[in-house]
Amino acid sequence: MREHKLALLIFLIMSVVDAAEVSLSPYFIKMIIDGAIKTVGDMERLIPTVLLPAILYASMPMVLNIFFRVYEYAYLKTMPIIKSDITATMFRYLSQHSYSYFQERFSGNLAKKIFDLMSGVESIIQIIHYIFTTRFIIVLIGSAILFTVQPIFGIILAVWAFCFVGASYYMAKKSEALSYEFSEADNVVGGKIVDSITNILSAKLFSNFNHEEKLISKSLKDVVAKDQLLQWHMMKTYFMQGTLITILSASMISGLLYGRLNNWVTIGDFALILALSSTVAMNIFNTGKEMIRFSKEVGKCRQALNIIVEPQEISDNTNATELNVPEGKILFDNVQFQYKDAEPLFENKSVIIEPGQKVGLVGHSGSGKSTFVNLILRLHDVTHGRILIDGQDIRNVTQESLRKNIGMIPQDPSLFHRTLMENIHFGKIDASTEEIINASKSAHAHDFIVTLPKGYDSMVGERGVKLSGGQRQRIAIARAFLKNAPILILDEATSQLDSITEKYIQESLWELMQNKTTIVIAHRLSTLLHMDRILVFDKGKIVEDGTHQELLAKKGLYSELWKSQVGGFLLDRDDGILI
Ligand SMILES: Nc1ncnc2c1ncn2[C@@H]1O[C@H](COP(=O)(O)OP(=O)(O)OP(=O)(O)O)[C@@H](O)[C@H]1O
Ligand SMILES: [Mg+2]
Repeated sequence: MREHKLALLIFLIMSVVDAAEVSLSPYFIKMIIDGAIKTVGDMERLIPTVLLPAILYASMPMVLNIFFRVYEYAYLKTMPIIKSDITATMFRYLSQHSYSYFQERFSGNLAKKIFDLMSGVESIIQIIHYIFTTRFIIVLIGSAILFTVQPIFGIILAVWAFCFVGASYYMAKKSEALSYEFSEADNVVGGKIVDSITNILSAKLFSNFNHEEKLISKSLKDVVAKDQLLQWHMMKTYFMQGTLITILSASMISGLLYGRLNNWVTIGDFALILALSSTVAMNIFNTGKEMIRFSKEVGKCRQALNIIVEPQEISDNTNATELNVPEGKILFDNVQFQYKDAEPLFENKSVIIEPGQKVGLVGHSGSGKSTFVNLILRLHDVTHGRILIDGQDIRNVTQESLRKNIGMIPQDPSLFHRTLMENIHFGKIDASTEEIINASKSAHAHDFIVTLPKGYDSMVGERGVKLSGGQRQRIAIARAFLKNAPILILDEATSQLDSITEKYIQESLWELMQNKTTIVIAHRLSTLLHMDRILVFDKGKIVEDGTHQELLAKKGLYSELWKSQVGGFLLDRDDGILI
């Protein structure tokens, strides 16, 4: 921070030096011209008269040269750090958003917003420092010099500058709004492109590129319209600014001629006033231009901030404690949950899962099984009621400690675009290589990994696309083995494996489940035969609860599901398709 303050001071000094150079040069020229005219016919006095302004005029570029390099050094010492701080802070804030936040937004777009902000802040700092402060000082010094030499020209310039800045500010406000809209439209296209690329396989399989292209070009039309609107507005602004500059030049030259006719303007004044007023005018004109760029950048940053810095839906309570799981008892107390714009699920349901109990969840697709376990993981907050783990409300403990205590193998595990070793390592960051290899042996992943040309160092592709579904699942299982948390959740953890591999993994998973509270979601009911208890889900409600035998005897939904199994699979109720 202290370094940044020092850099800020250097930036400011630089502005003053730069501005002084620009506005003082014409003054030195005036002194040299006036001195030369005064000494006509007395050449011996020429050099002593013009020596000082001549030396000052000649040494200006060197002074600037040195100051510019100091400025650049301060810049290189601070700007990259400021940018990386912004990226890190934004990334931290972004990653703490709830899971729903990410489900509703395109990841590629969110990443773009961080970069928008990073580049936007750099431009804004540059514009404020270099353009606004420097140019502001140029105008101040320039007007002051004019005012001392010829007060009337100083006044003309100051009044003109005031009008110019006021008018530009008014126009910039509008361009900020237009830029915001443009950025929003740009965002929509970005999102659609990311969506199409992510689903490239679907587009290929259905040969639907034309359809995708049409969708994107529809949104592009909106971007074009908003872009043109913004540029048209900028053109109008530049035209207005150009006109004001013409007015200034005309006033200055008329004033000078009038003053010369009346003998109160020297030849040197012509050089000084014309050079200075055009320099000042050009600087203000550029300021006006920069004001528009500034408002564009501000619009872009505001758009990015609005998306990233939304209030976090799920955050740790200010006095959140660490979750302590001595037993692993889970209590669903009067729970109700509702996805945005959807029907409520679980209707004030209470369920007690005893320590070490092994519970199977069954039910048709979409009946709420994954939601049930996601609630335990606090990926969403319950709408009513509460969830307790060993007596602690999961909203009162830190999310980190909650998830550290739950090993989860998700329905569709996705991997980092890193090596297999790094991906398994993710289950326990401080694990040794030996532990990692043991875990992958337990998950029956070791055998296929060692046959790969690069073994554990093979890259898995984005989200793990270079692996088969079953291989990905085994990596996720290896992670869970490594994590070895007291509560274990398997969401269709072995659904993509062939029956022989599955059988082996079931055996190792069974060992992993010992002394752990375990929730297993499965479509293949035979995998649930060893469970202590089964919860049956139907359309977002838990409709049956008991052991396999009890539920069969009940002749309800479970026994119906059991009977309709073909080779251990569940038939979909409506159309008899295997799911
Ligand atoms: N993020 C979400 N926003 C809105 N609705 C959702 C969301 N996720 C799931 N749902 C809906 O909630 C219901 C329950 O979904 P859930 O994923 O819990 O089902 P499931 O029993 O796990 O199904 P499957 O066996 O197919 O995995 C479904 O109707 C689903 O459409
Ligand atoms: Mg599911």
